[in-house]
Amino acid sequence: MNKKMRVGILTGGGDCPGLNAVIRAVAKKLMIENNAEIIGIKDGYEGLISNQYRMLGYSDVSGILTLGGTILGTSNIANPYRVVQIKNGKTIITDKSKQVLANIKRQKMDCLVCIGGDGTMAIASRLSNDGVPLVGVPKTIDNDIRGTDVTFGFDTAVSIATEGIDRLHTTAQSHHRIMILELMGRTAGWISLHAGIAGGGDIILIPEIPYDIQKVAQVVKARNKRGSKFSIIVIGEGARPKGGKVVVQRMVQESTIAARLGGISNVLSQDLEQITGLSTRAVVMGHLIRGGSPTANDRVLATQLGVQVADLINKKQFGTMVGVSGCSFKAVKLKDVAQGPKLVSKNHPLVKAARSVGTSFGD
Ligand code: F6P
Repeated sequence: MNKKMRVGILTGGGDCPGLNAVIRAVAKKLMIENNAEIIGIKDGYEGLISNQYRMLGYSDVSGILTLGGTILGTSNIANPYRVVQIKNGKTIITDKSKQVLANIKRQKMDCLVCIGGDGTMAIASRLSNDGVPLVGVPKTIDNDIRGTDVTFGFDTAVSIATEGIDRLHTTAQSHHRIMILELMGRTAGWISLHAGIAGGGDIILIPEIPYDIQKVAQVVKARNKRGSKFSIIVIGEGARPKGGKVVVQRMVQESTIAARLGGISNVLSQDLEQITGLSTRAVVMGHLIRGGSPTANDRVLATQLGVQVADLINKKQFGTMVGVSGCSFKAVKLKDVAQGPKLVSKNHPLVKAARSVGTSFGD
């Protein structure tokens, strides 16, 4: 009798709307069409290091399409090649990749599906080089993964952020204020750019285009002069003034990318209030745009990606990630994905479109 195919699934990095929709799609397709056994790895790479997993049956992956977060748990710290422990103030770094390879063998996994962002893909690429048959699915609200036009979770984050901008408009208008909304996205400005356009932000400040505080103040003053006695500014957490630095909220030493950004909106608020004399308020949306149920678009995208990745498994196209290219999907080599974040170019069509309708980038 032929041995059943055994496929492991893990979700790594920050949680993101649509993770469960991908898990559901991969697992259901492989169960229905291949009679496969699905191993759910707990808490991302942490579960591979410590051999924590549970078998997923059909009922486990039913009814989870609309659920936010991940039923498997995740970690944006765990890295088999760099396990960081802090003992008595000392940082100890250990390579536990051999342990991970042994656990994968022990589980008799024919293939591993890694759903995650650029950090997860970089680790997947190394595991693939070390001989693990695996495939990747791009996830992140930040939309900053190379090799794919778009990631699931991004649409949901943009929708929630846009609603945030809409809600700030009323207070801005009523109080004749400058309202600043700070959005996640790390070093990439995709969320701020899309939400800023969708919400009709007057000024959009993104990490890729450092701003000149005097220019930002000029735009606000010019609007006031024209009779628009309020301004909406959307700013990415990784934005910074020309010649200035990003604002780091905290350092997570165990994490591969230790700096957690946040707080630039407060700096901008103080600077603007001082220069313009106008009442200014800063709001940080933070994790609110990362939680909850995925939008219809993200549910559809996540389902398609799950189905596509199951196809890659059947074709044994390991060492790849499924990427979106226009209206179709492609297999991208993981080593090409792990080349740093995909950023907004200064002359991106969306930047140009925003400028065309009078939006300032503060430059
Ligand atoms: O990558 C997703 C993301 O939400 C970023 O936009 C943000 O900078 C970071 O994760 C926050 O990480 P944490 O959840 O560890 O605070």
